[in-house]
Parts: sequence; structure tokens; C-alpha cells
Amino acid sequence: MSQKVLLTGGAGFIGSHTYIELIKAGFDVVILDNFSNARPDVIDRLEVITASPVTCYKGDVLDGALLDQIFAEHKIDAAIHFAALKAVGESADIPLEYMNTNIAGLYSLLRAMDRAGTSALVFSSSATVYGQPDQLPVPENAPRSYTSPYGFTKLACEQSLEQVAASDSKWAFGILRYFNPAGAHDSALIGEDPSDIPNNLMPYIAKVATGELAELAVFGGDYDTPDGTGVRDYIHVMDLARGHVLSVKALLETGQCHTVNLGTGIGYSVLDMLHAYARAAEKPLPHRIAPRRLGDVASVYADPTQARDLLGFTAELGLDEMCASSWNWVSRRKNT
Ligand code: WQD
Repeated sequence: MSQKVLLTGGAGFIGSHTYIELIKAGFDVVILDNFSNARPDVIDRLEVITASPVTCYKGDVLDGALLDQIFAEHKIDAAIHFAALKAVGESADIPLEYMNTNIAGLYSLLRAMDRAGTSALVFSSSATVYGQPDQLPVPENAPRSYTSPYGFTKLACEQSLEQVAASDSKWAFGILRYFNPAGAHDSALIGEDPSDIPNNLMPYIAKVATGELAELAVFGGDYDTPDGTGVRDYIHVMDLARGHVLSVKALLETGQCHTVNLGTGIGYSVLDMLHAYARAAEKPLPHRIAPRRLGDVASVYADPTQARDLLGFTAELGLDEMCASSWNWVSRRKNT
């Protein structure tokens, strides 16, 4: 009998890619998504990619009765919690919405799991909890802080999970700190699909490459980095998805909690990404150096050794694969 995993936010960018890797690994999977940041036809495309029907509930993780229904209809062995709001800038405009969705949403899921007797949870966290790190590459024991309401919610969730785990040894939590997810599935049937103007670098460059946006504003050309532009640790979304499978397997096999960085350990600048994308799209990409973005840090990239040692996870795909897969996805989507 295959073990069954509940994916909250499973129709989203990282959730949908993780769905595919879980099916490939032999898990049964149930999706819960309110589709506030995902298109309904993602489910149809997941059925094409996996050649099997997708079990999906449309609803909100704050709906305890719906969660109880899901746990009653399915024997859930573990949950992976993606459902959250994740735009740093937006979080400063609607902090209460972010706290309700991100923090109360986690509590709602944990309480439903407790009622159902499910105790393994993978939590989608973020390198944003490191703020501007003093040490590079960043290890998991680096000091945590926050520089936005979004970052506050991720830190509050991590600390809540630590408290709950300390209260009862039945709980097994995997806290995964994503660096900068990028790229798309090789089928070009799913990928990052922001409905409005993207905040993040790669989806913005992708829209410049398709002509939907005129040019990239490079936020700052005077940082203390090799070419003056911001440096980040971009990780292919398929590597990230694989990391989630290894995390949920470790929780189910050991019952032990873990907190790991999911990054490559390699930092690339904005201009590195721009040039790599221009190579993938085989065209020059208009851009200009603009003023720094408020709240940005110069450099952040992961120390990935703990994910390797605890989960056997090492990122395998590089910047060119991220850009090529993203370009395939956006150029296919533009033509559909
Ligand atoms: C990357 C680099 C920008 C857009 C954020 C969140 C983090 C996570 C990932 C959720 C920076 C530069 C960007 C543009 C640019 N989100 N840039 N022009 O800020 O590292 O991380 O997204 O979990 O929590 O903080 O990612 O893609 O916004 O920026 O020059 O139009 O690209 O200055 O150097 P960031 P990003």
C-alpha cells in the first residue's frame, strides 16, 4: 500500500513540481489548493504529465472542516505545506492577511493533523529568515531575523514548529529553507506562472524574453559583488521538488525533525542570470541599471552540506538548465 501525502498549495509553482516527483517516487498524493495563485488547468496538465488522475480538493487550509473531511476520506501519512502568501513587497501592504494565511493557516493544518493522528509535516520555509547574513555561504545555524512581514511569518512558523515538536516526540517536522527557485518542468506543461507583473527575477526576465515586458530594471549596479549586481543562490524547481521527496521520506523513515537549506551553494549575479537567459532564448534582452530595491541584500547563497548529510540531497541542475526550461515553458505558454 503506497504511503499518501497531502500537498497544501499543491497546484502552485513548487507544489505542482513536487507533485510530479512524489508520484514518480511511488507516493499517492492529494492536493488541497484555493487556486488564489494557481490556474485550474494545472491539474489537467499534471494528469497529462503523470498519466494518472489527480485527486484535488478546492479550498482553503484555514477551513478546518474541509481538512477534517480530507483526513477522513484519505489515510494521510504526511503533509507538505506550500499554501502561503509569498510576495515580500505585498506583505508590507497587507501584513495581517499574511499573518492570517501563513501563520494561522499552519496552525489550522497542524490541529487537523493532530485530530487525525498524522504527525509528519514538511514545511516550506525560506532563506529570507537569514535576513542579511554575516556569514557566506549561509549555514542553518546562522542567526535568524526578518526584514518584512513575509519574513516574520516564515520565522514565526519555524519557531512554532520548534515549540510543537518539543512538546511531543510524535511530531516529525522537515523545515526546508528555499533559496531562489527557478526554471520549469522539462515537459514545458507547467512552470512559474505569475498572473501580474512578477516580483522575482527569472519570471520578469522571462516576460522580457517573450516581449510581454519591455526591459529588465537591474536593481542596483553598485553592490560589493563581482559585477556590482545582486548575487543569489538559484535552484532548479525540479531539484527543489526532489528535495521535498527526500525530506518526507526521511521523516517517515526516522520520525526525526530536520531543518535544511535547499540551495546549490553557488551564487549568481543578476547579470549572470540575464546573460544565461539571453543564451537560452537566443536573443539580446533589453535591460538598464536602476536604483537598488528597498530591502534587498547584496549576496545570499547557501551552505548546502546539511541537506546532503541528512537527506542525501545535492542540487544537480545549473543556471543554463534553469533558463532553458523556463524559456521552453514561457515560449510554449505564449503560443497556447
Ligand atoms: C533576486 C535578485 C534583485 C527583480 C525573494 C524573497 C524570498 C523568496 C525568493 C519566497 C535580487 C534582482 C529582481 C527585478 C532585479 N520568495 N532583481 N530586477 O529578493 O532574492 O528573494 O524571492 O520565498 O523569500 O525574498 O528574489 O527574484 O526578487 O531578486 O534586479 O525586476 O534579482 O535585486 O538581487 P529575492 P528576487
